Amino acid sequence: MTGAGVSAESGLLTFRDSGGLWEGYDVMQVASIEGWYANKELLLDFYNMRRKQAFEAKPNPAHFALKNLEKEYHVNIITQNVDDLHEKAGSTHVLHLHGKLREAKSEKDDSYIIDLKDKPIQMGDVCPKGGQLRPNVVWFGEMVPNIEPAAELVSKADILLIIGTSLVVYPAAGLVNAARRDIPIYLIDPNIPNVAIGNPRFHCLEKKAGKGTPELVSKLLETNA
Ligand code: OAD
Repeated sequence: MTGAGVSAESGLLTFRDSGGLWEGYDVMQVASIEGWYANKELLLDFYNMRRKQAFEAKPNPAHFALKNLEKEYHVNIITQNVDDLHEKAGSTHVLHLHGKLREAKSEKDDSYIIDLKDKPIQMGDVCPKGGQLRPNVVWFGEMVPNIEPAAELVSKADILLIIGTSLVVYPAAGLVNAARRDIPIYLIDPNIPNVAIGNPRFHCLEKKAGKGTPELVSKLLETNA
C-alpha cells in the first residue's frame, strides 16, 4: 500500500510535509468537491499542471523494487497516488484508490473516461452528453469506489508493506484493519505515522522509500529464494 511518499524521490510533492500547503495551495481547496464547485477553472489549471509533472516524472528505486518483488511474490499494489509511476516501473497489478491524473471523466456520466496522457482539460471540454470534463481523481467529499476491492486484497494478503503514507486519510487509512492478525506489516517512512508508533503490529523502517524499499525487497526475495 503506497502513498505520496513513494513518489517524493521522483520529484512529486507529498501533501502534508509542507505544513498543509501543497504546491502553494490549501489541500482542501484543490482536493475537495466543494473546491471544484467553487472554482472549476482553478482546479483544472492545478490538475493540468500536476498531470504534466507526473507525465514527466520517472519511477525511483522504490517503484522498481516493488516491480522486482514480482519475481517471487504475487504483488498487488494499492496506491493512494494519482500518478502512474508504479505502472511506469512495470508493476502489473496496481489498484488506484484515488483515481488517475492522466484520465478525465465527465461530470455528468461517471462511465465516460478518457486517457489524456499529458493533455490539459479546458473549461468547455465536454462528453457527448454535454457534461464538463474533470480530472478522474477522487476528491474529499466523494465516494472511493475501489475501497472494497482494496479491502478484499488486504484481507487476503500474507505480507503487508505500507510505504510513504501518513495514514490519516480515510477510508484508505482504515485498510490496515482488514489485514489478518497473523501477518507481518512492514512500514517504510522517514517520519513514522502516529498510528504506527509503539504499535507492535508494525515493523517500522524509518527510511526514505528509495532506500528502505530496495532493502526490504532484497530481504523478502532472499527469504523466499
Ligand atoms: P501525505 O502527504 O499525507 O503523507 C506522505 C507521507 O510520506 C508522510 O508520512 C511522509 O513522512 C512520507 N514521506 C515523505 N518523503 C518520503 C520518502 N522519500 N519516502 C517515504 N516516505 C516519505 O500523503 P498520503 O498519505 O499519500 O487524497 O495522503 C493521502 C491522501 O491525502 C492523498 O491520496 C490525497 C491527499 O489528500 C486525495 O486527494 C483524495
